[in-house]
Amino acid sequence: MPVFTRELGIDLGTTTTTIAENNEVLLQEPTVVAIVIEEQKMVEWGQAAKDMDGRAPESIEVVRPLQFGVIAEYEITENLLGFLIKKVSGPMLIFRPRIMITVPYGITSVESRAVHEVGLGSGSREVFLIQQPLAAALGVDLPISTPSGNMLISLGGGVTQAAVLAMNSIISADTSRTGGLRLDEGIINFVRKKYGVIIGQPTAEQLKIRIGAAVLQEQQQIMEVQGQDQITGLPKPVSLSTGDIVEALQEPLGEIVNIIQRVLEKTPPELISDIIDRGVALCGGGALLRGVDKYLTKSLGIPAYLVDEPLTCTALGAARAIGMRDVLRRSLLTT
Ligand SMILES: Nc1ncnc2c1ncn2[C@@H]1O[C@H](COP(=O)(O)OP(=O)(O)OP(=O)(O)O)[C@@H](O)[C@H]1O
Ligand SMILES: [Mg+2]
Repeated sequence: MPVFTRELGIDLGTTTTTIAENNEVLLQEPTVVAIVIEEQKMVEWGQAAKDMDGRAPESIEVVRPLQFGVIAEYEITENLLGFLIKKVSGPMLIFRPRIMITVPYGITSVESRAVHEVGLGSGSREVFLIQQPLAAALGVDLPISTPSGNMLISLGGGVTQAAVLAMNSIISADTSRTGGLRLDEGIINFVRKKYGVIIGQPTAEQLKIRIGAAVLQEQQQIMEVQGQDQITGLPKPVSLSTGDIVEALQEPLGEIVNIIQRVLEKTPPELISDIIDRGVALCGGGALLRGVDKYLTKSLGIPAYLVDEPLTCTALGAARAIGMRDVLRRSLLTT
């Protein structure tokens, strides 16, 4: 019998973990674990844990083990990853998989070593690390093997990464902590200041996804949500419009523009002219925000476009990178 090793690409995201193999997405689950506080025992993982968020009894805590793209809770991450790998491998995990895990651009060697160890601890035979923008560029098939420049922006839940790539490498890049959670925070602050009402992060995220936009839309939508009066603490409903959300998001979106501009500033001019011709690829969940392509096109003066598989391209690219690891040798992280 031939020895068959699974080769999994794993996008370990702040909000979502995605696992792919060959050209197929095998799993997408929230990067969340539910823990019984007293015994420090993990009881639910992924979607089942997220479903408990805000609804679980006080004895249970729902934890996001990654913050801003890096591991904040080592043991919980290892346990979650082991759970997810078993889920895609089935109960008969005879041959331990070879995995390629993504890490944000610019993390420290201590942080990347933690990811490597978590990968090994989760039951894998061999662990490789790839920077997220490189994996995403492979996943969306940008022509990065040539010397001409390509730009990709990953708008994630925890971080935004901007990168210029050529010759299978990252030429210039930067990571900022302004991700989707920061956009949600912008909405929370806006609702508190304008209406004196406190709302939670899940509600802010729903507003962003259902009626939100980066630029004003022809059709304004309205959504009513339940909050808490800032002064009395009593429940208070509040109606918000698309215009409200657009206003609430301008400050964090401005931070995103700044980081992209910083990367463009340190990119050689020859590559900039390629990028102007080809446009800037947008991926990650934040790329689904209505009008964000228009907003960035206008702010940067370079056309920005949404890729085909914004939520899964990074995991698909990581899976692809396993077979290309010789070509990518110089670009993969060593620990
Ligand atoms: N339709 C939508 N409009 C706006 N934002 C969205 C939409 N769908 C998802 N998002 C946001 O995308 C973010 C999650 O994106 P993604 O799954 O790419 O992040 P991640 O990979 O887990 O995080 P990171 O890459 O920062 O570690 C969340 O903040 C979510 O609110
Ligand atoms: Mg991501």
